[in-house]
Amino acid sequence: MRININRNIFIVLLLVLLVAWFWWAYNNLDKPAIFCDEQTEICDQNTALYLDASRSVDERVEDLLARMTLEEKIGQLALIDRSNLSNSEDIARYNLGALLSGGGSLPEDRTAAGWQAMTAEYQSYTKKTRLKIPLLYGVDAIHGHANVLGATVFPHQIGLGATNDPDLVRRVYEATARELMATGVYWNFAPSLDVPKDQRWGRVYEAFSGDARRVDGLTASSIIGLQGEPSSPLVLATAKHYLGGGAAIWGSSDTEDYKIDQGDIELSEQLLRSEHLLPFQTAVEAGVGSVMVALNSWQGKKLSSHTYLLTDVLKGELGFTGFVVSDWYGVYEIPGNDYLNTVAAINSGVDMVMLPKDYKKFAADMLHAKQSGKISDSRLDDAVRRVLRAKFALGLFDREAPAPADLEVVGSDEHRAIAREAVRKSLVVLKDSRDILPLSKDVQTLLVAGSAADNVGQQCGGWTVEWQGIDGNWLPGATSILSGLKQTVSSKTEVIYERDGNFTLSDKADVGIAIIGEKPYAEGAGDNADPRLSTEDLAVIAKVRQSSDKLVVIIISGRALNIKTQARNWEAIVAAWLPGTEGQGVADVLFGGYPFTGALPVPWEL
Ligand code: BGC
Ligand code: BGC
Repeated sequence: MRININRNIFIVLLLVLLVAWFWWAYNNLDKPAIFCDEQTEICDQNTALYLDASRSVDERVEDLLARMTLEEKIGQLALIDRSNLSNSEDIARYNLGALLSGGGSLPEDRTAAGWQAMTAEYQSYTKKTRLKIPLLYGVDAIHGHANVLGATVFPHQIGLGATNDPDLVRRVYEATARELMATGVYWNFAPSLDVPKDQRWGRVYEAFSGDARRVDGLTASSIIGLQGEPSSPLVLATAKHYLGGGAAIWGSSDTEDYKIDQGDIELSEQLLRSEHLLPFQTAVEAGVGSVMVALNSWQGKKLSSHTYLLTDVLKGELGFTGFVVSDWYGVYEIPGNDYLNTVAAINSGVDMVMLPKDYKKFAADMLHAKQSGKISDSRLDDAVRRVLRAKFALGLFDREAPAPADLEVVGSDEHRAIAREAVRKSLVVLKDSRDILPLSKDVQTLLVAGSAADNVGQQCGGWTVEWQGIDGNWLPGATSILSGLKQTVSSKTEVIYERDGNFTLSDKADVGIAIIGEKPYAEGAGDNADPRLSTEDLAVIAKVRQSSDKLVVIIISGRALNIKTQARNWEAIVAAWLPGTEGQGVADVLFGGYPFTGALPVPWEL
């Protein structure tokens, strides 16, 4: 009897183990995509129409859509921050369609190789799903692939706006696309088409200009640069943030510690259209694949559920055929609970929800909304179709994953040369009252001082490795403005650098350069009631003034600063914006190698 019990227990245990093994194998082994034709009952492997690259995008989309379950469709509409993925297996379990790295959400190995390995690893989980739909991976490469150590960091868009050079902007964004592709990232949350009207906003530097016409003139180039030609696509661009955040009212932000970022826009529809919609119209005409909704509200109503602006205007009137993605938690800021918010956002025209965290709840809410008829079949299919269309058009189903050799383009000499050209063309002379510019390379003694003189992190600004930017000189391959100056002057020139301006000279030097400006910031953390130079910076300028005959002040900033009362006895002032890693571009122009050609992108009173 005892023996029998033991044997039974043994058999049960064996069965349990067997079932567990099958379950594990079912979830973990690569499954071939097997499809059976219902009429002929013939099953094929990996030969479904949508996998056939010779078919048109529309044919492939329709074929795939017809095969998808409700859960598979819902998964395509979620965009999750990688740091909130509780388990990479969830990519397959929830059929997730898209992941992102928000600012500072980085793999442990922050080099390009680390990024390439990370995206490959995430993609590998989609291979375990029935339909093997590749993930879209999105980042904010808003001034180059600047989350990556060793990447080329271009001037922030405000500097590109100062160049007002569409061909250069196209090359900058194409280089960015190539660095993204090398790391397996095919989606960029750029360009910003915001038109900032208030210098107190922390996002002025992310925009090309405060002048809608200037923004509009650079829009098509940035999108074509990123996306390439439809016959050989590069990466998916995102026109953001739709719509009007640059006109928000100071003090209207309902986000803690923010003042204007994400605030309310009170403009009339006529002004909203003439000042803010214009570049989006151009973006749609240029074929932009995605549009991101602003976190703001217009006349009190959150844009993330604004049917009129999202569906009627953007998709209807402008004829946008790409997909609309909401911004970071934007959907959950609509008054009401998460479920109602999700329903409202999807029904108003949001196609993909950036919900950094709770994808399980999102999946359950969407399922419930669909089953209870709150979201219609046609709205759901329209959203999924738009996302799939972007994926097919990008070639995601057909591309080979990037190889280690492809990483060569990241931070390449060719790309750095484009960045340096952009720095040169972005410099704006605010003042040159004694005609001292350009400086002579043969100057005998050159004094250099200031917090931003030898600080690559500061010259890169926010959205560089960390969301709020970094401090110091630790980006591989980068050049600070000071080292650019040293490389440019003649061998006869003595360059004396004192960060704090404490020079101990018996005589005045010929020329002193003070390089000062804003510390890095991003988004609402940069909202500032009175953007101006710090007392430390002003003290340094005063010391350089005292020690030199001619004074040049170079301002590193993401916006126009209030220098009206101080600038009177500085004879030359140059706005260098946030130039990025190629600091030599400043010396190239300062010492006459190239002319000053930049034009103010935002009003700056002196
Ligand atoms: C910003 C977007 C950005 C997104 C993802 C949001 O907070 O508003 O511009 O693309 O985060 O990082
Ligand atoms: C993320 C950013 C995002 C921001 C929004 C940060 O934690 O890293 O990408 O834009 O939150 O508040």
